[in-house]
Amino acid sequence: MNLLLKFWSSSIGKKWLVALTGLALLGFVVAHLVGNLQMFAGASKINAYAEFLHQNEKPLWIARIGLIACFVLHIVATLTLVKMNRAARPQSYALNRHVQAKISTRTMAFSGLTVLSFVVFHLLHYTLRVTDPRFRTVEEKGELQNVFDVYHMVVLGFQNPLISAFYIFSVGLLALHLSHGVSSVFQTFGLESKRSAQWMPTAGKILSALIFAGYASIPTAVLMGVLK
Ligand code: HEM
Repeated sequence: MNLLLKFWSSSIGKKWLVALTGLALLGFVVAHLVGNLQMFAGASKINAYAEFLHQNEKPLWIARIGLIACFVLHIVATLTLVKMNRAARPQSYALNRHVQAKISTRTMAFSGLTVLSFVVFHLLHYTLRVTDPRFRTVEEKGELQNVFDVYHMVVLGFQNPLISAFYIFSVGLLALHLSHGVSSVFQTFGLESKRSAQWMPTAGKILSALIFAGYASIPTAVLMGVLK
């Protein structure tokens, strides 16, 4: 207990917590993307996948609780770290930091907060399904009777250009957030060498670009009539 408290109250302990929870959240983002891309394999594929997840209630709830814990810890540790750094930082550095920092670094707070509000909307939209009454009446018309039609719910949702635009904007900011986060993780764990310092930012950018392209492809395909 004492060791945990010591870890939490130190700046490096908080940095590790931000990095570890960030990695776990990144794992979810990649896994969720792979699941969502089954939209392109047809309604029965994604509907069967969603049904499989819902059938496994216990592991699903364990994953959900883990996800919520990571999300809360990631935010709380970041906020307390920022507070600690501000209290310790000399004034002159604060004045210069905007000149030196890259856009992904400077927008971490904005991108993080936008992703947070996006997740709240997204849960109301597709998980709790309270934003659109039509979602309650979608039915699987293919081979899977008595299974909730996630495919047609997503298509109906993204046929609204404003909602699609909000999703694309939010996943763009998520990608920006990840781009900086991924390259910082190695630094935090003390694994950065001269060589990796050169390729890590590029690896972070490539991974984030793939995540952005994957997520944005779904609303874009619906708006273009490819998914209907
Ligand atoms: C095109 C983009 C996306 C689509 C089409 C999509 C689709 C969905 C759907 C259909 C569900 C409900 C699943 C069900 O109850 O059967 C869901 C849940 C969820 N999504 Fe997404 N999603 C997208 C992007 C994201 C992003 C970028 C994040 C995170 C930053 C995210 C986080 C979540 C979370 C946390 C849940 C709740 C999971 C649960 O309750 O088990 N989603 N998503």
